[in-house]
Amino acid sequence: MIAPKGSERIRWFHEARFGMFIHWGLYSLLGRGEWTMFVERIPKEEYSTLARRFHPRRFDPDAWAALAVESGMKYMVLTTRHHDGFCLFDSQVSDFTSVKTRAKRDFVAEFVTAARKAGLKVGFYYSLLDWRFPGYFEPKKHPRDKEAMIEQAHAQVRELMTQYGKIDILWYDGGWVPSLPGVDMAEFWRAKDLNRAARKLQPHILINNRSGLDEDLDTPEQHVTASVPGRGWESCMTIGDPCGWGYIRHNPNMKTVTQLIQHLVTAAAGEGNFLLNVGPQPDGEVRNREAARLREVGEWLRLHGEGIYGSERCLLKDSMLGLWTAKGTTGYLHVFRWPGESAVQACVGTRALSATLLATGETLKTRQERNGRLVIQGLPKAPPNPHASVIKVEFESRPEPIREKDRAAWLEGKAT
Ligand code: GLC
Repeated sequence: MIAPKGSERIRWFHEARFGMFIHWGLYSLLGRGEWTMFVERIPKEEYSTLARRFHPRRFDPDAWAALAVESGMKYMVLTTRHHDGFCLFDSQVSDFTSVKTRAKRDFVAEFVTAARKAGLKVGFYYSLLDWRFPGYFEPKKHPRDKEAMIEQAHAQVRELMTQYGKIDILWYDGGWVPSLPGVDMAEFWRAKDLNRAARKLQPHILINNRSGLDEDLDTPEQHVTASVPGRGWESCMTIGDPCGWGYIRHNPNMKTVTQLIQHLVTAAAGEGNFLLNVGPQPDGEVRNREAARLREVGEWLRLHGEGIYGSERCLLKDSMLGLWTAKGTTGYLHVFRWPGESAVQACVGTRALSATLLATGETLKTRQERNGRLVIQGLPKAPPNPHASVIKVEFESRPEPIREKDRAAWLEGKAT
């Protein structure tokens, strides 16, 4: 069932490398993140009155899609339902939906149409747990209620997999059952059945690992950490503080564009993807502080995307300057810390044929020393790009490091 790296099903995902995560729902109205109902222990009835205020006039998924495209993103993942249980889609098994309350709209349907129109792949975030069920918190005390919640999840996943055409990613979350220590998450949610049913309806779909089963994708959160080679993975991250994904009105620690680009490059260097989150305002608009950063990443990608999209791991040794990605016999050194007029890469075991500055195509000189040091010369004194500049090196074959059989040989200027 799991899609290995080379398989057809996951190919688009490896080509994509960069996606937009969207956390948007009733909680956006409160402006304190998506966990507010639980963290502030807002009673269910009181929280549900938010639905009366939820009629986003500026909801414009075409604008979301246009922003994603401009930012160089290739897919979008939307919270179809978060832990508060409020569905942005039409569900027959719940009344707590945007279709049955004031907005009277199926936002998921509109989102899918917009994404498809813009040529983006579509992912559905779905929280298995639903805070509105006492059986989630006290399963032993309310066993039937717990069952009802699990059944609701099965029914809603089926709805999501049937009502909106082709879906590319099923992005589970909220599978944890802290109230039942030692209980296996996958067993609790009957994840095998759930995912079997999803795959039957959407045979090409990629499923993440948060239903308790490995499935196709690992999902490191708020850090970029590569999985073992061959395994699909995607790091998700917020632009602001890590504690909240939904709209946070005053969120002072916004990451810089340089930081965001470095995270994206780090993901690509480990053959993984970067799913960068936005938390649109209650009216549906992505505020400028977030949108402007995304657009700048897009600008950088327009010049340097060749070393990111569809990139592979590069086997060359780590550099102090930045990170390598590769594509066949081409290596891309993404330089975060510009060295000045020449750059050195140690332990290169493959002959370099040529080097250029990726953004301009400007030719650089290369010199390869017998001890494996590749020296790239003729670089501008100052970094050509303020975020990361990329040196593209054509090698004779797939770039490989030398094997330092004698680990002290380098002291004498020798390669082995
Ligand atoms: C966590 C949080 C959740 C957020 C998600 C994103 O699991 O519970 O609020 O949606 O991470 O990865």
